[in-house]
Amino acid sequence: MRIVTSPMEMRSACRGYQRGVVEQSLGLVPTMGALHEGHLSLVRASRERCDRTVASIFVNPLQFGPTEDFARYPRTFEEDCTLLEQEGVDILFAPTPAEMYPTAMQTVVDVPEIGGRLDGASRQGHFRGVATVVSKLFNIVQPDYAFFGQKDAAQVAVLRAMVRDLNYGLEVVVCPTVRRNNGLAMSSRNRYLTECEGRDAQALSRSLRHVEDAVANGERSVAHLRSSMMGDLKSSGSLRVDYADLVHPETLESVEELLPETLVAVAAWVGKTRLVDNCIVDLGEATS
Ligand code: PAF
Repeated sequence: MRIVTSPMEMRSACRGYQRGVVEQSLGLVPTMGALHEGHLSLVRASRERCDRTVASIFVNPLQFGPTEDFARYPRTFEEDCTLLEQEGVDILFAPTPAEMYPTAMQTVVDVPEIGGRLDGASRQGHFRGVATVVSKLFNIVQPDYAFFGQKDAAQVAVLRAMVRDLNYGLEVVVCPTVRRNNGLAMSSRNRYLTECEGRDAQALSRSLRHVEDAVANGERSVAHLRSSMMGDLKSSGSLRVDYADLVHPETLESVEELLPETLVAVAAWVGKTRLVDNCIVDLGEATS
């Protein structure tokens, strides 16, 4: 696996694939490192679909607020390289902040409405930081496909809107959330959890499962589903709920009636760690 840190070198390496004698399709898996099975599932999806796979590791300062965990975000570069190499990644792009942002940024990419909902409402500027860095990665790598996890459903909605609005010539591929046996969605931030917090954190996926079960059993009242989620989350000791909502999967607007597909999304602090999770409730499946 080749490791590249300079955006210029990365761009010419990727162009090499696209302009070779035989054009090769290129998949990009953007990450902030501290890799887990969720990330590896994205790499595998890219390897299945594309001739070449590029992964990036960059802990993006722009997407962290001043009181958030940028400084202590887990950085496990050596282990990450071993995993990516084992998975058959062709190039790892791992720029430093100075390489990615050599001068103070004058330009940002903002998706203000969608990016101000769910996580965007409580993490001011977060999705501006995400959209800006992902836009830079798209311009540098120019992939045919970019792979993201369903776990970050709000991020997916923001990036899909960005790709559509700015005419990026690539397809966003969304891969299913990977979970531990106890239901907890894989996240780099799970590393922060104590054993006891790890148990409390299971309330997030449990609350989603209860919504799925209730809908499968005929419940159609969004108000009831919302309050049952809140009840589940509040019953867990150290949890502080940020949001628990049923929303449109593309616009992230709260819904008052179930849609054919409704995104059920939750975010909560478990101790000092903020976790997110979600599921899609599919009325077609629920009624079949
Ligand atoms: O999902 C992430 O890890 C990050 O938000 C991303 C997409 C790599 C942008 O920094």
